[in-house]
Amino acid sequence: MSAMTLAGLIEASAERLSQANVAFGHGTQSAFDEAVWLVLWRLGLPLDIDLDEVANQAITSEQQAACTALIEQRIATRKPAAYLTREAWLQGVSFYIDERAIVPRSLIAEVLADGTIDAWLSDQTTQVLDLCTGNGSLAVLAALAWPEVQVTGADISDDALAVAAINTERHALQERVTLVHSDGLAALPGPFDLILCNPPYVCQASMDALPAEYRAEPELALAGGADGMDFVRQLLQDAPSRMSEQAVLVLEIGNERAHFEAAFPDLEVAWLDTSSGEDQVLLITRAALLASPLA
Ligand SMILES: C[S@@+](CC[C@H](N)C(=O)[O-])C[C@H]1O[C@@H](n2cnc3c(N)ncnc32)[C@H](O)[C@@H]1O
Repeated sequence: MSAMTLAGLIEASAERLSQANVAFGHGTQSAFDEAVWLVLWRLGLPLDIDLDEVANQAITSEQQAACTALIEQRIATRKPAAYLTREAWLQGVSFYIDERAIVPRSLIAEVLADGTIDAWLSDQTTQVLDLCTGNGSLAVLAALAWPEVQVTGADISDDALAVAAINTERHALQERVTLVHSDGLAALPGPFDLILCNPPYVCQASMDALPAEYRAEPELALAGGADGMDFVRQLLQDAPSRMSEQAVLVLEIGNERAHFEAAFPDLEVAWLDTSSGEDQVLLITRAALLASPLA
């Protein structure tokens, strides 16, 4: 019998994940990509390795057993892969993650990295807030993208803030990223020149239908009330008083555009283009917030 190859092990692992109907969306979108991630990680190989170059590499029976055990753990626990590997990647940047915080995957990372937000900034932009920072990924990416700014990362969860502290240290950004416990904007007087916020916005009907992988994450990070807009309502009311005159708010609302527009019908917003379409991340100026009678 010929030895198993790396390609064969990945194929077999992907097949097993497919059969088991695990859910994706925490860094990968398919059984094959998830198998590649878990197998390469278990074997200690770089995740960005050229697969074609190593496809025929022989796998020992010990390596096969170790990878199979990890795939079975993924299936049995239904935890996102990142909770098993303790690492998630966003825009090519590595972040520590564990069950205390949601697995980072915000689309705001895209508009931050591709320069979309830059058009709204100026040399007056010095104070950036990442509200609902979770594991601190957007705060870290903002500090890396704009070396001149000071970043505040805020969250109501001390567990999440503990994970964020690991990531600011991992990227040696403790001097430029300050982590603050706050319920919404309550402990954040500002003024901020830019607010980034990926809040809990999942509506109750969607919460009720979430796959187990999402239920493995803190509920506080996802649930936004009946229409998903509980947190956002308070935020839009409080934000102008925490924003400098030219400041903008970049807000992620996932699949809740209809709920957002029903809740704030008169608010002028700019929808930003992302890999998931033009209806998940929006930008609001302070002037637009002040001009709108908010619910
Ligand atoms: C969707 S997660 C976003 C985490 C991170 N920014 C990311 O993109 O991965 C929402 C975060 O909001 C936090 N949160 C929930 N309610 C909050 C509140 N009232 N005030 C501040 N943070 C809150 C949760 O603890 C969670 O970390």
